[in-house]
Amino acid sequence: MKIKEGHYLAPYVATPSELAPHIMELTKPKKGDRFADIGCGEEGVMVIEAAKLKYGLKEVIGIEGVKDRIKKVTKRVRDLGLEDRIKIIHADAVEYNLSKIKPNIVFMYLTYNGVTMLKPKLESEVEIGTRVVSEAYEVGGWKPSRAVTLNYKNRKKRDVFVYEIGKTEMREPLELQLEEILIKE
Ligand SMILES: C[S@@+](CC[C@H](N)C(=O)[O-])C[C@H]1O[C@@H](n2cnc3c(N)ncnc32)[C@H](O)[C@@H]1O
Repeated sequence: MKIKEGHYLAPYVATPSELAPHIMELTKPKKGDRFADIGCGEEGVMVIEAAKLKYGLKEVIGIEGVKDRIKKVTKRVRDLGLEDRIKIIHADAVEYNLSKIKPNIVFMYLTYNGVTMLKPKLESEVEIGTRVVSEAYEVGGWKPSRAVTLNYKNRKKRDVFVYEIGKTEMREPLELQLEEILIKE
């Protein structure tokens, strides 16, 4: 399986591991939720965080389209003994129908073009109430329920946008004010 031409959503850059618990909290995880990371990469930073028992998730799924990254993330998950808690799917996320996995939380760390490409899929394939959390890039034309800047080590910043399917309609142009959150080391 190869990612189809024009479907490449982002190059590989891992989510900074120190941000993972804070991003996870922004997804408002509830017991029994199903979590999907679109483009989970080779380290699977967010799927590994999501698999922690404290979040009480029922299913944690990583979708990745690059074969070599699939091999690495699968090995990492196995080495951590998490193969019963994390399912890795080798697929082109643009082609994969998300209704098959019924996520309540969708996480994505892609490019602006990447999230734009997925927008119609998210609107039609996931259920009302699903939280969609985008690291770094906002989903153009959607109204976020929360928009934050995480300030972390040595003055680094990372924006995170939280959406709820069914409540993303933007009735008028919105000037986004990002809420600043300071992450102490
Ligand atoms: C910025 S990285 C995200 C890494 C990971 N989510 C994390 O939090 O560490 C983007 C990932 O998306 C994957 N990707 C890009 N296009 C894809 C597609 N069409 N289907 C599946 N995965 C894709 C890339 O291979 C890369 O691993």
